[in-house]
Amino acid sequence: MLSRVEHLESTLVPTPTTSIVTQWQGRTHHLRLKHESFNPSGSIKDRTAAGLLMAMDRRSPLLPGTVVVESTSGNLGLGMARLLAGLDCRLIAVIDPKTPPATRDALTRAGVQVCFVDEPDGYGGYLLTRLRTVHTLCATNPGYRWPDQYGSFANPWIHQLTTGPEIAEQGGPDLDAVYVAVSTGGTLAGISAHLRTLDRQIRIVAVDAHGSLVTGAPPGRRLIAGIGASRRSSFLSEHSYDAATWVADADAIAVCRVFLADTGVALGGSSGCVLHACLVDLAGEQPPTNPLCLCPDGGDRYRATLYDDAWLDEVGAREEVELAMKRLRADGLQFKNG
Ligand SMILES: Cc1ncc(COP(=O)(O)O)c(C=O)c1O
Repeated sequence: MLSRVEHLESTLVPTPTTSIVTQWQGRTHHLRLKHESFNPSGSIKDRTAAGLLMAMDRRSPLLPGTVVVESTSGNLGLGMARLLAGLDCRLIAVIDPKTPPATRDALTRAGVQVCFVDEPDGYGGYLLTRLRTVHTLCATNPGYRWPDQYGSFANPWIHQLTTGPEIAEQGGPDLDAVYVAVSTGGTLAGISAHLRTLDRQIRIVAVDAHGSLVTGAPPGRRLIAGIGASRRSSFLSEHSYDAATWVADADAIAVCRVFLADTGVALGGSSGCVLHACLVDLAGEQPPTNPLCLCPDGGDRYRATLYDDAWLDEVGAREEVELAMKRLRADGLQFKNG
């Protein structure tokens, strides 16, 4: 029988990378994609869940019956639910309308008590409403425990310990740029903390969504789950990255659809943002020669949203996405498994 710590650590297995040959604006590029969909519950947030719960357990053991409450766009909830079930603990996940229906169903199947909030926070999302709900739940139920993925040092720490070293190794000695999606900023802060200790010239790019406040842009409507937030990251400073870039929803969705058509692989929406940010740099004056794109999750949970034309109609984004796809193809974009 595994101890609590061994159980939590068992989640932390390295994820694979693939090599993708990309035609783009008349040139051939080689990209490395790191697939966090290979984590046990399907996203990079398995690592964050393990880190946060390990820190909580060190503070005070996660004994059977413990109730954990967290605000999540869905992926962290799935990662935590899996780990907490193994400890006979329980999760209450505060989610919002941006959580894809498939993720919502998976949370319910995993025995999570889902607390759904739908009051917009006035900053293009629901995060501030979710956090108010977490505070109310904890204030009215003194036994409930909140890991706080937005403020706990354990969030970046686990990526400094695992994701960063994996990237440095799998990217190879010629790795010269890393593209990372940001929401809490924990993944990027941890990766950066590791890469900055190495004597290597690796450009770190923070990939944010149009309308997100994480890296300091003005607020606006956002469609893609997981990336972006309604406030600045408490983990990131301008030293954490060399450049920040903002990707429009339609561009990210278009890249996801082109990638699926060319390779048969469905990526999640934030991976589409990351790939688009990389493509923009590849078309620039000093393109990276060996970039790595960190893909936070896969596309299966988004079949009924990002990959569904009826959903695009519903959110009024179909025309924009079709135009963006035409532009990408007109610029010669083609992906091939390398
Ligand atoms: C799909 C997806 N992409 C990117 C991120 C961003 O990760 P972080 O919160 O560490 O910045 C998340 C976080 O929830 C996510 O679920």
